[in-house]
Amino acid sequence: MSVIRESFGFMPDKTEIFKYILENSSGTQAHILTLGATLQSFIIADKNGEMKDVLLGFDSVSDYLEKSNYQGATVGRYANRIGGASIDINGKNYSLTANEKNVTSLHSAGDFSYSPWKAVVPDADMVEMSYVSPDGEGGFPGEVSVKVIFRLTEDNKLSIKYSGVSTKDTYMNFTNHAYFNLNGYDSGDILSHYLKIDSSFITPVDELSIPLGGAMSVENTPFDFREFARIGERIASDHAQLKMTGGYDHNFCLPESEGELREIAQSYSEDSGIKMAVLTTLPGVQFYAGNFLAGAEGKNGKAMNKRTGFCLETQFYPDTPHQPDFPSCLFKAGEEYVSETVYAFSLQK
Ligand code: BGC
Repeated sequence: MSVIRESFGFMPDKTEIFKYILENSSGTQAHILTLGATLQSFIIADKNGEMKDVLLGFDSVSDYLEKSNYQGATVGRYANRIGGASIDINGKNYSLTANEKNVTSLHSAGDFSYSPWKAVVPDADMVEMSYVSPDGEGGFPGEVSVKVIFRLTEDNKLSIKYSGVSTKDTYMNFTNHAYFNLNGYDSGDILSHYLKIDSSFITPVDELSIPLGGAMSVENTPFDFREFARIGERIASDHAQLKMTGGYDHNFCLPESEGELREIAQSYSEDSGIKMAVLTTLPGVQFYAGNFLAGAEGKNGKAMNKRTGFCLETQFYPDTPHQPDFPSCLFKAGEEYVSETVYAFSLQK
């Protein structure tokens, strides 16, 4: 295992951004930027021994600042959406940045994901990124100290461990927004990828993608991924929830975990033979099929067109501040948020 640090460029205020490359002895690499603790590349051998970069991303700081839809970014303070861009904590109302249609808050407006983070290398297989989110960022109360540890193993697992502590009671919901394409970021759409999600319910949404409340069974719907199915097989089905969001873009409720890491999803492509399992301690995962990707030029000038990447964003459910039945992510001042998500790569036999 080794960790190399390179310069990745500069922020408009001249802060230098670094790229950390974690590499194991089979040559698998994870590239992580100090800009938003962003996972920029994950490079692994396919079934023919050819190295493939399975993540959408960009080649420069300015592209991340100007063109990104959170590709590979660490997202907080609240990943996903909050209805009405407003929350109440301890009887006090807080207005959040309404960055979507001037009504809802999506990914808390992104300051967190597009700021420089600090990095240290505690060991030869990991990098630890940290960020102090100021009191009031995105409208949220409390100064939040966040740490994210990325660790690559010899057997091609990428573990991401999150922790956060706030100076005031506040909501915390962190995720990584990697867009995967298991044939390589430059190889077209992901519709032929197979996907399995260990989930019997989604949280259905309204036209602003805010949960309606309650859960919808996946039984007999295009949302049933309890057995492997191709992503493209039913994505154009005549189902009200798919029409609402223009393709898969939903929170899948995961089996109880009590904070334990368990496998919740798998995907593979027959073309590359690359397979990825997702493990997490969290209660939900947003399966987003890249419906809104609109051709921004990414790495090597390659256009990120609609559905050229898919996301499995592990998370607390969307809009929990307004849904008392959803698992809560309101943390007391000083109480620690912790979670772990693992992307485990192998070859499909
Ligand atoms: C959301 C999508 C959104 C994407 C990029 C996902 O988490 O569910 O609706 O387009 O993030 O912001």
